[in-house]
Amino acid sequence: MSRDTSDSAPLQSSAVIHEAVQTLRNGGLVAFPTETVYGLGADARNPEAIKKIFTMKGRPSNHPLIVHLAAPDKFDQTQVDWVSVLAPWVRDLSENALKLMNAFWPGPLTLVFKKDKSVLSDLTGGQDTVAIRAPAHPVAQELLRKFKGGVVAPSANRFGKVSPTSAADVRSEFEGELGLMVLDGGDCEVGIESTIIDLSSGDHAVLLRPGLITPKAIFAKTGIKVYQVGEALQDLDSLPRVSGSLKAHYAPTTPLRLYAPGRVLDALSEFPDTKSRVAVAVWDSESSLVLEDHPSIDVEEIIVSSDAATFASRLYRTLRDLDQQSWDLILFPESPAGEEWDGVRDRLQRACFGSGPPSNNHDSN
Ligand code: TXA
Ligand code: MG
Repeated sequence: MSRDTSDSAPLQSSAVIHEAVQTLRNGGLVAFPTETVYGLGADARNPEAIKKIFTMKGRPSNHPLIVHLAAPDKFDQTQVDWVSVLAPWVRDLSENALKLMNAFWPGPLTLVFKKDKSVLSDLTGGQDTVAIRAPAHPVAQELLRKFKGGVVAPSANRFGKVSPTSAADVRSEFEGELGLMVLDGGDCEVGIESTIIDLSSGDHAVLLRPGLITPKAIFAKTGIKVYQVGEALQDLDSLPRVSGSLKAHYAPTTPLRLYAPGRVLDALSEFPDTKSRVAVAVWDSESSLVLEDHPSIDVEEIIVSSDAATFASRLYRTLRDLDQQSWDLILFPESPAGEEWDGVRDRLQRACFGSGPPSNNHDSN
């Protein structure tokens, strides 16, 4: 995925990258931009450093992390040698895995493999599989290339909260952690986390987390059919655990609800406090909702894109900004049907479920 970094993204100087590499080598944490969201990185071969990630995020230690690897330089090669890049990390690489890597790496796609025995179980949550991705963001690429190793990086937010899509978001998420190094690569272009495909269970590719890269796009580019969980007849107990699969996740502290097409007033009427201030997200393709007529509730419209990729790129930014503005309720439109909306629909549903002040959360966060 190409990225124009000339306007918003200050590419980090080589001195800063050098310092970040030293920090990782010394067992420290470095937050860095990827094209999806910002990650909180540590040396994937250092158990103490990995422990720091779980502590700083407040994440249960059985939730596995993704290993980020540098994409080798292509120069005049047409195909990258992914086999040697992956060899230290995974047990075997299928034809399908190579096809997926050649088609989508570097980019917002994470693949789950049976792990090499050298991979620390601290990072896999004790499972015998490992998730790997090669991010496309130039700052991430440079950091990984210079580090010359794997970097584990969950999204750089406290467990269960909205993922950060700018360096400022990361800083506000970890305000108390004064020593945390944050590389600034501007705003994230994709805006929601990578698509995760499980290749560890043999023949079938199984979608574990929807994202920008859809099963349809994968089929079109590689001919590989991606199954939904349950569809591929695998043993459900053997499926890897995905922390993003908790019902409550990616959540703002302001209550967030969805409304069906044209049903804003219904959604508002379910909210009994008429003195409330409510932010309502409205499709850019729709004319005004004429909410001025609503008795006493203070409603403000926020325009959101009806293009799925554009909507995704701004979703977390919008949720974070709204969360800072002391609304009593945030209303978002339900996502339209269609695979390109699956990633957004998934994040919004979980964000609703986990939203509200801490005591209102319905899950283990
Ligand atoms: O876009 C992304 O993937 C971002 C950027 C920073 O790369 N990272 C990210 O990490 O979203 P995190 O930790 O917030 O989410 C990683 C997801 C979790 O849901 C985790 O359960 C899943 O990947 N995962 C990690 N290892 C796995 C494994 N071995 N099997 C199944 N799922 C795994
Ligand atoms: Mg996360």
